[in-house]
Amino acid sequence: MAERSRPRRAAEHRHRLRLRRLLFLLPLLLLLVLLAQLPALLLRRANSFGRRCLPGATDRRLPLLPGPVRNPRLSLAIVTLADEGASGSRGRRSFRGVLAATARNKRAYAAAHGYGLIALPASAVDPSRPPSWSKVLALRAHLRHHHWLFWNDADTLVTNPEIPLERILFSVIGHSDFNESPDLVLTEDFGGVNAGVFFIRRSNWSEKFLDTWWNQTSFIQFGSTKSGDNAALKHLIGHLSSEEMQAQVRIAKMQCLFNSYPWILSWKSTFRLIFHLATTWKGVYSDGDFMIHFAGLDDKQGWTNKIVGEIETLR
Ligand SMILES: *[C@@H]1O[C@H](CO)[C@@H](O)[C@H](O)[C@H]1NC(C)=O
Ligand SMILES: *[C@@H]1O[C@H](CO)[C@@H](O)[C@H](O)[C@H]1NC(C)=O
Repeated sequence: MAERSRPRRAAEHRHRLRLRRLLFLLPLLLLLVLLAQLPALLLRRANSFGRRCLPGATDRRLPLLPGPVRNPRLSLAIVTLADEGASGSRGRRSFRGVLAATARNKRAYAAAHGYGLIALPASAVDPSRPPSWSKVLALRAHLRHHHWLFWNDADTLVTNPEIPLERILFSVIGHSDFNESPDLVLTEDFGGVNAGVFFIRRSNWSEKFLDTWWNQTSFIQFGSTKSGDNAALKHLIGHLSSEEMQAQVRIAKMQCLFNSYPWILSWKSTFRLIFHLATTWKGVYSDGDFMIHFAGLDDKQGWTNKIVGEIETLR
C-alpha cells in the first residue's frame, strides 16, 4: 500500500508547488496588465499635465478668448475624399462606414464656422493611382475658389469644434495677413511631414507645388498601406531651398495643434514611447485637442464610433 502511494504523494506535492507558484504569478501578471494600460491613460490626459498644443487653449472646452484672429474676408474650405467604393486600403484597414461618420462631423464643424466643405465623390478619384494621390488633384481644382484649403484624410474627426481654423493658422503664422502668409502649413510625426492633414494657401507657388507633387510618379506605390504621396511630399519639402522653405512652408511646433494620433498599446507604440518620447508627446491625442487622425490604425471603424460617442456625450 505505502509503496504505491509514495509516487502519488510526490505528484500531489508537485501539484501543490505549481499551484503556489501560479498564485504568486497571478498578481504579477495582473500588475503587468494594469501597467500596460497606464501609458494610454496618462497620454490621453497630456493636456491636463500641461501640454499646450494651441496657446491659450486648455483641456476644457472654454469659450474662445476674443482676439484679432478672425478675418471675415477670408474664405476657407475643408477638402476631403469620400471614395467609399474605391478605397485602396481594404480589409483590416477598411474605410467602410468611417466616411459617413467623418463627413457628418466635418459638415457640422464647417457649418458652425461658415467654412466650405468639399467632399469629393468616388468619381473624383484618378483610377490610375492609389486614391490617396487624388488629394493633389482635388486641391489643385479648388485652390482658386478659396483663400485657404484645409486637407483632411477621411480618417480624421474634429474633436474640439470650438477652435476655428483661423486661430490654428494664426498660432502657426503669427499674424493674419493673407498676403504675407506662407503657402503650406504642415505637421510632423515620427516619419517627418504628414500628408494626411494640412493647409494650403491660394497662390501661384501653391499651384506649381501641387503640379510638381502630382508629377512625382516615381513615388507611386501599389499594393501596400503606403501609396507614395506622403513620401513624395517629404521628398519635395526636403529639397526646397532654405529661402523657399522659410518663405513658403511652416511646420507647426506641436503636431497636436491639428493632427493628433491616438496612443494604442503595441510593440511599435511602446518602442516609440521609450525612444521617441518628445515626438509621442507632441502628437498624441489628448482631451481638448482639435483633431484626431487614425493614421495607420487597423480598426478605424471602431475608433470612429468610440470618438464620435465621446464627442456626443461631451456636448
Ligand atoms: C500669378 O501669376 C500671374 C502671372 O503669371 C499673375 O498675373 C497673378 O497675379 C499671380 N497670382 C497670384 C495670386 O499671385
Ligand atoms: C508636370 O508634368 C507635365 C507632363 O509631363 C508637364 O507638362 C508639366 O510642366 C509638369 N509640371 C511641373 C510643375 O513640373
